Amino acid sequence: MKIWLAPMDWVTDCAYRIICKEIFLRYQKPHESLMLWTEFMSADGYMHNPVWVVKHLLQTDYESELIAQIFWWNVETLVACAQSLDQHYSFGWIELNMWCPSPKIMKCEAWSGMLKNKEKTLQILKQIAQSITTPFSLKTRAWLTEADKEEQFAFLVEASKYVWMIGVHWRTYKQSHSGEVDRPFIYKLKQACSDTVIIWNWWIRTYQDCADRIGPLDGVMIAQAAIGNPRVLVETTPSVEERFAVIFRHLALAMAQEQYFKERALSTEKTGHTILIQPTLHQLENRADHIHAHPEKYDGYYTPREFRKYLFNYISGLEYNKEIKKRIPAAKEYAELRVLLEEFYGLITKSVS
Ligand SMILES: Cc1cc2nc3c(=O)[nH]c(=O)nc-3n(C[C@H](O)[C@H](O)[C@H](O)COP(=O)(O)O)c2cc1C
Repeated sequence: MKIWLAPMDWVTDCAYRIICKEIFLRYQKPHESLMLWTEFMSADGYMHNPVWVVKHLLQTDYESELIAQIFWWNVETLVACAQSLDQHYSFGWIELNMWCPSPKIMKCEAWSGMLKNKEKTLQILKQIAQSITTPFSLKTRAWLTEADKEEQFAFLVEASKYVWMIGVHWRTYKQSHSGEVDRPFIYKLKQACSDTVIIWNWWIRTYQDCADRIGPLDGVMIAQAAIGNPRVLVETTPSVEERFAVIFRHLALAMAQEQYFKERALSTEKTGHTILIQPTLHQLENRADHIHAHPEKYDGYYTPREFRKYLFNYISGLEYNKEIKKRIPAAKEYAELRVLLEEFYGLITKSVS
């Protein structure tokens, strides 16, 4: 079974993907594989102001099979961006995001808005696919409303001629977050596009849910349930020690990642376009080791505050977590957060022994 950590803006950055992959490789079952995405990146931002968006492309040598996800509405910009990624980076796949439901974006026909004019969108998919050598994929919603369901089915079948994979979120734009999923319809899509990898996306909350949803599809994509919970990708339950080891490693890697961005590791040499110079995992780890050993030297980073979105889930269900959760917002610097987490860990292990 293919298990996919879904793309999530501000969540599936390089540091978190490393953590998820490490846990997956440690506990995967035979015949399981993991797929990883970058967060989405505006193709327009990439073409016109790359300095602000290339951080979404950070990738180490640990992630050879990574999908770079882009969005925009205008074909010239999408093609130019996809070509640049194709030439200057080493992603396994380039993907167009037609999933996001923001009403503002719908109006300018990007993201889910691309589903409104299906003929035009098919032309865009065709042009991108023909302009790059990296395999191309698509993430989309099943359909916009009940009324365009059949039309959308035909659209997806047609789109499958240009893409290697389609990740489908089985909720319509109209349904938003409620309503039932039409499973027979979904599984029929796989029959109709047998040469294309079709992935389930919606509401997988546990590892066991994967087997329940997959049916004849090729894999399942997990999003919200994986935030601060990489264990959803595998069947084992972590010990307290393992949980904390992951928290400390993730935090240090996330700090190392921020430090790397601060140095603006960018190059315009050879290409004429601003390109992010990619670090190796070893280089990031060296930085993380230094940060871990000298926490007092790393004030003024935004990572400790951003880290809360993972942390509250990481410590969910642990003894004393209510008390610690109240104190986490006050720990704004890395050193403060470390002290708090070490104290928490001490409390738990003491009460166990
Ligand atoms: C915080 C957050 C950020 C997201 N960012 C992206 C993104 O960058 N690209 C994308 O295609 N989908 C994005 N999504 C949507 C998810 O990939 C996924 O389709 C959605 O959450 C439904 O899956 P789930 O029910 O497993 O959460 C995001 C979702 C969340 C919660």
